[in-house]
Amino acid sequence: MEPKAEERIKKQLEAAFSEDVIEWGKPYMERFMKLMAYYRCAIMEIETKLNVLNEEFSLQYDRNPISSIKTRLKSLPSIKDKLSKLGLPLSASAIEENLNDIAGVRVICSFPEDVYRIADALLKQDDITLVQKKDYIKSPKPNGYRSLHLIVTVPIFLAHEKRLMKVEIQLRTIAMDSWASLEHQLRYKKDYEFDDSMKAELLRCAELSAELDARMDSLRALVQPE
Ligand code: GTP
Ligand code: MG
Repeated sequence: MEPKAEERIKKQLEAAFSEDVIEWGKPYMERFMKLMAYYRCAIMEIETKLNVLNEEFSLQYDRNPISSIKTRLKSLPSIKDKLSKLGLPLSASAIEENLNDIAGVRVICSFPEDVYRIADALLKQDDITLVQKKDYIKSPKPNGYRSLHLIVTVPIFLAHEKRLMKVEIQLRTIAMDSWASLEHQLRYKKDYEFDDSMKAELLRCAELSAELDARMDSLRALVQPE
């Protein structure tokens, strides 16, 4: 395990629990740390697959379909919150069985076409299994949010076993990502209540960003006919 990540999780554990609980729960915590390491490995597998696809496509089309990739492992406080909301215990098996977004990969693509091209190519791979797909591009959320969400399993190969790990992959264009990041920043100002006209304005911005994507994609299709 990457030493920095281990340190960070230890600090989160120390902040979440008292010392005697930590002592009492050592074997249990080892299971948790191991599970988090497996999720990190799953992120690495997916990231490599995406980089390979980007490399191949850029050879073929002379441009990069993936603009950037961001990865994150859900933090312990967020895991704790989500499990308690679901009325589940904080245990490795509860995490594995019930939470789909411990390992997160966000893929920022250049054009809408690239989102589907990358998603299709990834899902075609015989070691990737689709668990759930939410297409918020074809059917945006009522607030205007657009992205393609996939939950997949990917195998990780350990010394003595193969494990299938779940990863949440969010694919979006640069325009979708900029709307989502700004909306997230605004929404997380918790002391400010959004009224209907502000919600309508956010939705209008999402529609403008969708129009920008569509127009840029038309230009792409002219420059790069299939
Ligand atoms: P979570 O419990 O938050 O994981 O939601 P969910 O299980 O209903 O899944 P969904 O696929 O709808 O959303 C998962 C993730 O997508 C969130 O954690 C965000 O990262 C992103 N997301 C979903 N809706 C929005 C939105 O309206 N705005 C922004 N900025 N991000 C969103
Ligand atoms: Mg989530």
